[in-house]
Amino acid sequence: MSKIRKIVFPVAGMGTRFLPATKASAKEMMPVVDKPLIQYAAEEAIAAGYDQLIFVTGRGKRAIADHFDVSYELEMELEARGKEELLKEVRKILPSHVDIVYVRQPQPLGLGHAVLMAKRVVGNEAFAITLADDLIDGFNKPVLAQMNDVFERTGRSVLAVEDVPKDETHKYGIVDSVPLDDKTGRLKGIVEKPDPASAPSNLAVVGRYILTPRIFEILESTDRGAGGEIQLTDAIAKLLQEQDVISYRYDGKRYDCGSKLGYLIANIEYGLKHPELKSEFNQYLKKFSS
Ligand code: UTP
Repeated sequence: MSKIRKIVFPVAGMGTRFLPATKASAKEMMPVVDKPLIQYAAEEAIAAGYDQLIFVTGRGKRAIADHFDVSYELEMELEARGKEELLKEVRKILPSHVDIVYVRQPQPLGLGHAVLMAKRVVGNEAFAITLADDLIDGFNKPVLAQMNDVFERTGRSVLAVEDVPKDETHKYGIVDSVPLDDKTGRLKGIVEKPDPASAPSNLAVVGRYILTPRIFEILESTDRGAGGEIQLTDAIAKLLQEQDVISYRYDGKRYDCGSKLGYLIANIEYGLKHPELKSEFNQYLKKFSS
């Protein structure tokens, strides 16, 4: 089976939970310590072997394109000031073997609609999707690389899943899945943001997907669902009536940076690991909490 090389980053949402911070700038540009969320997402994808990054952007998202462009003025300035380390950091944002394509979602009509905007660029191949606001520390192996292994083994669409507390099912796509082994299962159903009472389980889809290109045709005929948006979840529900879809319990820790609490926790935990900060920040936190 040929390797998956294309990955879609839907970054055209409104980020209402972070207003007013997201009024004029993208949620995905918010930093965890010193790196924007979208850069963590791109680094994870590149580490997993993806070399064609497709950003689905919308209004007010220019900063994302600027972030991945070469900034000659900044590089010259850093060079002139002898800031070698920072220069290296800035230059490694996008390795030269990686291509970026930008497509636009003219209106934020939902995640499914955003993914559909990438149809022509992806073409007739399997592809991945990352939602950058789910920051995932994959410990020993990036989650996308773990999922590629499952795809290579099965040739099926793969969704990253994790157990969530029962009273939080209304925040996620929830799957009904028959276990295949301790990590994978075969989907029987999937439903977007169910109430705890009607949720088929507490196994939630998080922001990493590998999908077959059939999803695009299905999305084209998918009506608006929950919240009046075209839902990727609804299209996956139709996909699994035609093809097996695998749920995969990933190894790693996820930070829900689309919520204020998750974002703060991520900053604290990444701050505690940051080579420049960890010792002072540790001391500060100890003092603060005593
Ligand atoms: P969210 O459900 O987190 O929505 O989208 P949001 O607009 O970003 O944030 P809130 O809920 O209003 O605070 C999940 C992902 O799908 C993208 C978002 O950018 C995010 O990465 N998305 C969502 C789109 O690209 N287009 C859309 O129409 C909706």
